[in-house]
Amino acid sequence: MSNTPEFPWSDRYLLGYNPIDDTHREFVDCVDALLRASDDQVGAALEAFARHAEAHFAQEDGWMTEGEFPARDCHIDEHAKVMASVREVQELVAQGNYEIARELAHALIDWFPGHADYMDSALATWMVNKSHKGRPLVLRRKEHIQE
Ligand SMILES: [Fe+2]
Ligand SMILES: [Fe+2]
Repeated sequence: MSNTPEFPWSDRYLLGYNPIDDTHREFVDCVDALLRASDDQVGAALEAFARHAEAHFAQEDGWMTEGEFPARDCHIDEHAKVMASVREVQELVAQGNYEIARELAHALIDWFPGHADYMDSALATWMVNKSHKGRPLVLRRKEHIQE
């Protein structure tokens, strides 16, 4: 496996909410590792990607569900579709079809920028606004103490 990334991180993927940005850096690293894995590494690289994707999507789904994020259904649905493809590809890789894992990596590279721009960016903005709205609670508590 060469050390040069084929799917390098770019700051144009930054959405301004650190927990999402950190997860997205990890996504890029996992997909890149999958793309560059040799045949004997591909099963492990795919397993690592699947674990990442499960946690990544569960985190975003959790924020949307707990916070009643508007129009969350199509975002959650898109995560589920990607996860279903990952599971299918894992089965094929287990049967010795390693090339399909590289096809998946390329498909993920095509998918990610659009998903991040249209879906994750809306969630990132919403999470940032939510944490700003949390501040007045601190002020209210101070007022309460002064009473
Ligand atoms: Fe994401
Ligand atoms: Fe997402």
